[in-house]
Parts: sequence; C-alpha cells; structure tokens
Amino acid sequence: MKVSLQELRELFKPKLRPIQWEDSNNTLVLLDQSALPFQTTYVTLKDPEEVASAIKSMKVRGAPAIGITAAYGMVLALTSRNPNTLEEALRVLSNAKQVLDRARPTAVNLSWATSHMLNLSKEAIQDGKVRNVSELLVALKDEAGRIFQDELDAELQMGLYGAERLNDGDTVLTQCNAGGLATGTGLGTALAPVRVAHALGMKVSVIAPETRPWLQGSRLTVYELMADNIPVTLVTDTAVGLVMYRGMVQHVMVGADRILSDGHVFNKIGTFKEAVIAHELGIPFYVLAPVSTFDLKSRVEEVEIEERDPNEVRTVRGVPIAPERVKVYNPVFDVTPPRYITAIITEKGVIHPPFDKNVRKVVGR
Ligand code: MRU
Repeated sequence: MKVSLQELRELFKPKLRPIQWEDSNNTLVLLDQSALPFQTTYVTLKDPEEVASAIKSMKVRGAPAIGITAAYGMVLALTSRNPNTLEEALRVLSNAKQVLDRARPTAVNLSWATSHMLNLSKEAIQDGKVRNVSELLVALKDEAGRIFQDELDAELQMGLYGAERLNDGDTVLTQCNAGGLATGTGLGTALAPVRVAHALGMKVSVIAPETRPWLQGSRLTVYELMADNIPVTLVTDTAVGLVMYRGMVQHVMVGADRILSDGHVFNKIGTFKEAVIAHELGIPFYVLAPVSTFDLKSRVEEVEIEERDPNEVRTVRGVPIAPERVKVYNPVFDVTPPRYITAIITEKGVIHPPFDKNVRKVVGR
C-alpha cells in the first residue's frame, strides 16, 4: 500500500475524543461509554479512586483505553494527594497502582500502564532526572501523553498492515468494539484497517455482532462507524455462523485484551466461536493489538477471566428478559487457541504461526 505513516497521520484527524486531559485544573474527562449512543455525556475525574470506579463501571472500556486512562490515574494520584517529598510520592503512586490494577482483571494494558508509570518514576528519581515532586508530576503528565500518542501511531501502523490484506468490496466481521472508543484515540485496533482502507477510497464494510450482554457491538461499533460513514451491518451474536457460511465475510478482525507468548488470545466473549467457524470455513482470522497487550510471562490457566454482574444477562439495559432469580454465568472474555489464528498484527510487524516461536521475535520484551 503506497502511503506513509506520516501521510496517514495527516489523513486521520479523529473526531471522537473519548479521553481528554485538562491541564488547567488537573482533571481527566471521559466520554461515558455506558450511556452511548443514547446520551453523549462526560465524567470528570480527580483521583485514582474515581478513575478505578469509571473503569470498573465501564464508563471507559477497551484494553488500550483503560491503559491510557490508568496512566492518567497515576498522574491524578500526585495531583490529588500532593505529596511533599519524592519518597512520599513513590508511596502514593504504588498505592494508586494497587487501586487501579484491581479495577478490571483481564486486559493487561491496565497493569502495563501503571507499572510503566511507577517504574519511570523510580528511574527518574534514581537517575536524578527529577529533583522534586513538581518535576515528577511534569514527567508523568508527559509520559501519559506519550502513551496516548504512541497508541495512535501504533494503530495507524496496524491499520496499514491490516489494510494491505483487504480488497475493494470486502466485508470484515469483528467482535465487540475494538475501535476508536476502545482505544481512546478515535481510530482503534481491529477497525483501523477498515478506517485506513476507507480513507484511501476503497469500498469496505463491517459486520458487527451485538456482543451481548454489554452490547459493545450494537451500541459502540455501529455508532462510531456510522459517524464516519463506513458501511456497517448489525447482526445478532447467533448469526455469525450463517453470515460466514453464506460468504458474506472475507476477513475476521478482532482486538485483544491479552496475548500470551504462545499466541493464546484473550478477547471479548464470542471471539473464540468466530475463530473456530472462520477456521472451519477457511476465512482468515486476524487479531490486531499493540505490543502493550502482550503478556509474555503468564500461562493460559493463570489469566483471570472477568465475570460480571448476573443482572447484565438477566436484563437488557434494565429490562428483564429472564426469570428474576435464574442462575447466571457471565464470563465477559474468552480465550482463542493459537491454531485458529491466521496472524497477529502489531505495530512492530505481523506475527505468523508458529506463535510460540514468532511472538517473542516481534514483541521482543
Ligand atoms: O469489556 P470491554 O468492552 O472492555 O472489552 C473490550 C474488548 O474485548 C476489546 O476487543 C479489546 O479490549 C480490544 S480494544 C482495542
């Protein structure tokens, strides 16, 4: 594809701004994704506890977006607690990291971002790069801004790699929302190739499953693609087999919350089913994620899969759809084994099987 990253940067001026840092009063302003698309409301956060609660209640969600938000949560630890010494500042930051990391367990970007901010603080103090708390605060604000900018650049690169696989007229099946809302940048991971192809004048479209129970597909993916005039068709989660069987899908592209060194991919519940059907029907199945989504240490059985409130399943946005006291199991992520994955697209390159050898070569941490 004959377009440079710089040209793409010029092309994309994202309209959506789900995460905004307000420097004048040290607050973090989030577009409330739990209210979309029915209401466009914003929440203003002042300390790490408020940030953790916004992540838990999914006012902000999507692995990269909660990573960026958590990085700002670390900044808010300093602005809300006002430590007097650098030693006290490090204590405040480690406490904030604990509060933030507990908010949601599966997406590794969260603890990646808080560890990154804490380690950077320790190193800057040790190396004498910051001499007081005000200098540390400036360094942390800069770093949170850099994490945001790096994420956007990573998505542009992944968008380019992914778009190279698309042909004019293709339809991409996704799952959940791995778009600009989920990453905070307005672009996205799984939706980046479609956005890049669309911006370059190709005719491409998306099939978005509803993604029960939280409806990220019908509320968020549909909303953001329609806002950008990218053709999208909404289907129920139970229709994905048929749309693939009928040849309505040329590629599956999904995001990830955590990818292990052997290529196991944790993503929104329903992803595994899409991967198996795609494999059976010979449809390429791509996972798109920045390197901050890789966890090279954990084994598959060690990763906690978040289970959420049973009422998310007993009701649809407050309206009962099952007997009130029915027993419910509500895991919100699943794990796709590497054998179903065609390739994993990162900003550092495209990883092909065998993943247990090739993940480390590309991600290299
Ligand atoms: O529960 P959510 O909405 O936070 O889950 C989001 C997903 O599963 C996304 O696919 C993943 O975080 C990648 S977002 C670019």
